[in-house]
Amino acid sequence: MSDGLDVLDAVLEQSWGLLAQGLHDRHSPFRQGVLATYSDNGPQARYVVLRHVDKANRCIGFHSDYRADKIVQIQKSANVSWCFFGDKQQLRLSGIAAIHAGDAIAEAAWQATSNLSRRCYLTEQAPGTQSDIAASGLSAELEQRQPSTLESTQGFTQFAVIRITLESIEWLHLGANGHRRARFDWHHQAWQGSWLIP
Ligand SMILES: Cc1cc2nc3c(=O)[nH]c(=O)nc-3n(C[C@H](O)[C@H](O)[C@H](O)COP(=O)(O)O)c2cc1C
Repeated sequence: MSDGLDVLDAVLEQSWGLLAQGLHDRHSPFRQGVLATYSDNGPQARYVVLRHVDKANRCIGFHSDYRADKIVQIQKSANVSWCFFGDKQQLRLSGIAAIHAGDAIAEAAWQATSNLSRRCYLTEQAPGTQSDIAASGLSAELEQRQPSTLESTQGFTQFAVIRITLESIEWLHLGANGHRRARFDWHHQAWQGSWLIP
């Protein structure tokens, strides 16, 4: 490959770079990925938005309503997988999730959240609650506008920050001259990389 991605260290750098791009650029394909959790009824996968990238601590994260099913699933089993795809590259990340609600980490993330984003946490009923009609769960008034800062503060009770400490990073590059695949496992305080046949 011409772009240096035939060296494992460069692939690892590139992988973290794609995540950083997803964090900072809302138009990046790495802005959101499919998060898989265990549930009592088998695996569950859904998109979530990447809200935190900390390469030094091999940690990534997202935000959610504390009442969501995914929170219950993570409480039962903290092993999660999060998959992203863009620019001919798939990132398949696995790790251990920790839920933060009402603590300093949640508070800091909440302070950095816009009032419009906070509206997601103002539904009276929990996500996944059955409804007789197609409903947002918001009051008719709040559907039409963003909440004031005062109104939005009520959402903090429902707000959860999920941080995932990565145990493995798998990178797959789709190429006309054959694909390339690399895997990095966290062992002995370092990323141990190896090439895999795609
Ligand atoms: C592009 C996109 C981004 C999403 N981002 C989030 C998110 O950051 N956090 C979240 O809890 N749900 C997010 N959702 C909604 C989830 O995919 C899911 O429908 C909802 O959270 C219920 O999932 P659960 O029942 O497994 O908790 C997003 C959906 C889409 C389509």
